[in-house]
Amino acid sequence: MKRHLPLQTHIIWCAIALGLFGGFGMGAHLVYYLAFGLPPGKAFGAMIQVHGHLQLLGWTGLFIIGVSLFKLPRLMSTRPLSKILVRLITISIVFGITLKSTAHILLFYLRYEDTLRMAVAFGGLLESTGILLFFSAIFRNSVTFRPQTGAYAAASIKPFLMISLIAWLFYALINAFLGVEFYRSMATLQSPAWNEVGTETYIHGVLLPTCFAFSISTFPIFLRLRAPTWPVLRVATLYGLGAVFYLLGTAVELVNASDSTNPVRVVGVCLRAAAIVYLIVELDFLRLRMPWYRKFRSKQDRENRPPRRHAGDYGQYGNFEWLIYSAYAWLLLGVVSEVLSLVINSPLPSSAVRHFYLLGFVTHLILGMAVRLVPGFLGSSRIAFPFLVRLSFALILLSTITRTFPVLVPSSNHGLLRIGYGFSGVIAMAAIALLGVNLFATVRRA
Ligand code: HEM
Repeated sequence: MKRHLPLQTHIIWCAIALGLFGGFGMGAHLVYYLAFGLPPGKAFGAMIQVHGHLQLLGWTGLFIIGVSLFKLPRLMSTRPLSKILVRLITISIVFGITLKSTAHILLFYLRYEDTLRMAVAFGGLLESTGILLFFSAIFRNSVTFRPQTGAYAAASIKPFLMISLIAWLFYALINAFLGVEFYRSMATLQSPAWNEVGTETYIHGVLLPTCFAFSISTFPIFLRLRAPTWPVLRVATLYGLGAVFYLLGTAVELVNASDSTNPVRVVGVCLRAAAIVYLIVELDFLRLRMPWYRKFRSKQDRENRPPRRHAGDYGQYGNFEWLIYSAYAWLLLGVVSEVLSLVINSPLPSSAVRHFYLLGFVTHLILGMAVRLVPGFLGSSRIAFPFLVRLSFALILLSTITRTFPVLVPSSNHGLLRIGYGFSGVIAMAAIALLGVNLFATVRRA
């Protein structure tokens, strides 16, 4: 019988490399220039777009794809994926991102404008092809997946997963359109309005729902939180509706370059916010409800060798839960600030709110989940250096605070805030490098 593919670690290495040397590296460069008032180079605007794209599709996207291609076929008991398909997905996306990002920046420095424009378009099309292959590998099986009665963890992944897969499809189309449009135009930036629509589709359609799907199905084991016996489908429907309204409203606002707030977007923000708060309450971080394992075991759980109080392990993965709790605190802050921006006179800077979600929520979650998931996928029951997990938590927390708060404070000329902001990118790079070292050593040992 054909076996499922082992974890394709090269996808994880590509995510870390593109994040560390691409997205985070470029972010570090941007904030350093902004914080210390250095004259921006001619490619500065393009670098912002490239940074966003590398972070989204390179850092977070490849991580999601690597974990999904390993986990979902097993969870849904489908036929094993073919190695060639997985290789094609990886090569298309990695080669596409690298080509597109490099060509876009070089456009400002080299003379071969036509060739470089074509390279940007070709890179975009390659990325979208990779995404569509990923979509085709997972989508049909996800639709037909019927979990057994009582298999709550398996069943709970489906609602948010379906939202994210549909959004992947839209994102692939927008991304391909952006590349081709860039080739046909004489502009030096991708259409800012459509670039923004693509970014928002990715964040609220693909990224957050995937994070929710994996959180709901794994936290009962990893953190011994409540089992997903609550109405996951209802929360996901509320969220999905909110995301659709939000993205439609945002697209109308941006494409018409309208100054006034679109009411459809406002409804979307409120529905999304309600769904996220509902989700956080149901996940039960405050442990107000009875944990699931009490139903099956006596009160004196694993009497001889009890696991850590609020986790299912003995500390061999480091304090990964700090990263997860912190991620959800940033998520709440993101939601509150987005809603607040609707009601106050001067909305909070979207740059800070966006990074609450991306650096605060998503990156903390990846750092926490990676060290807990990857060893298990490799058949190992520990991470190589638990103390590095604690260190990466301290660094990423510091980096998120220094990346976001100075932007919120109007007088961020204050020396310390400025220095923190200027070095926030470098601090984040150190956190990602620690994850890389830790996973690399774990893989070597396994
Ligand atoms: C400490 C780490 C980071 C630093 C220093 C950083 C810095 C920046 C800067 C300076 C900008 C442009 C101006 C602005 O919006 O303020 C920006 C935009 C952006 N960043 Fe980051 N960022 C970081 C982490 C991340 C992460 C982890 C993600 C995604 C996972 C991300 C995604 C984006 C996106 C999507 C944009 C908008 C790009 C566009 O306008 O096309 N950033 N970032």
